[in-house]
Parts: sequence; structure tokens; C-alpha cells
Amino acid sequence: MDEPKQTKNWWFHLLFLASGAAILFFLLHAPPESTKKLPHNPDHERFFAMDKKAAEKFCEECHQPQGTAPLPANHPPKYRCLLCHKRT
Ligand code: HEC
Ligand code: HEC
Repeated sequence: MDEPKQTKNWWFHLLFLASGAAILFFLLHAPPESTKKLPHNPDHERFFAMDKKAAEKFCEECHQPQGTAPLPANHPPKYRCLLCHKRT
């Protein structure tokens, strides 16, 4: 004989709650942001005072493939440097 409808619903609710709890647990345990910060040194110091968009125009002078400090080959899409490499 089939299970009563109420009982089946109860199991779906439990499953829903369990997956919600699992996702919450995962988010709360995410590692701290680990992308490198904009370094404080003579190459970068002037960018701390600038408007972000203005500062980003200069990054590629050095961080382009032919520059003095090319980006690593596996670098993520590099649109807007300072949104990922924070200034602190
Ligand atoms: C005058 C040249 C120059 C300019 C302009 C420049 N950088 Fe750099 N940057 C360097 C050099 C050199 C290094 C060191 C590379 C290495 O690790 O060997 C570096 C390293 C870095 C690092 C890695 C720091 C670390 O902890 O390893 C980040 C992030 C970075 N730059 C971001 C930026 C951003 C964002 C901009 C634009 C706002 C910028 N840079 C503009 C020369 C420059
Ligand atoms: C979507 C986020 C993102 C953006 C946008 C971005 N980066 Fe990165 N960058 C990373 C990540 C992640 C790494 C891997 C190493 C790390 O943890 O910093 C990295 C690595 C680097 C490194 C090498 C650091 C080292 O290991 O020595 C430099 C230099 C750098 N980025 C400069 C730049 C510049 C200049 C721009 C803009 C043209 C830029 N990044 C835009 C996320 C980003």
C-alpha cells in the first residue's frame, strides 16, 4: 500500500532543511579572502591615493606580457585590478 501523502511531504521538508543547513555550513566555513593585496612599495604607493579607475590605467605598464612584472599565465580575467587586489 502507498504511504500517506502527509508522510512523503514530511520527508521532503526534512531534505530541504538538511540541504539548507549544509549550504549554510559551507558558506560560514569558506576560507578568508586570499587574493594578494596591492603591495606597499615604491612601484605601487602612488596608487593608494588615486581614484581606483584612474589607478588601474597604470597597472599594465608593468603587468603586461612584455612588462617588468608580467601576470602569471593562469591569471583570472583581469578587468578591474583593484576590485580583486584590494588596497589596505
Ligand atoms: C612601475 C611598475 C609597476 C606598476 C605601475 C604596477 N606594478 Fe604591481 N608589481 C610590480 C612589480 C615589479 C611587482 C613584483 C613582482 C614580483 O613579485 O616579482 C609587482 C607586484 C604586484 C602584485 C603582487 C604583490 C604580491 O604580494 O606578490 C600585485 C597584486 C600588483 N603588483 C598589483 C598591481 C596593480 C593592481 C597595479 C595598478 C594599480 C600595479 N600593480 C601597478 C610593478 C608594478
Ligand atoms: C577576478 C579577480 C582578479 C582581477 C580582476 C585581477 N586579478 Fe591579479 N590575481 C588574482 C588572483 C586570484 C591571483 C592569484 C594569486 C593571488 O592569490 O594573488 C592573481 C595574481 C596576480 C599577480 C601575481 C601575484 C604573485 O603571485 O606574485 C599580479 C602581479 C596580479 N595578479 C596583478 C593584477 C593586475 C595588474 C590586474 C589588472 C590588470 C589584476 N591582477 C586583476 C585575481 C585578480
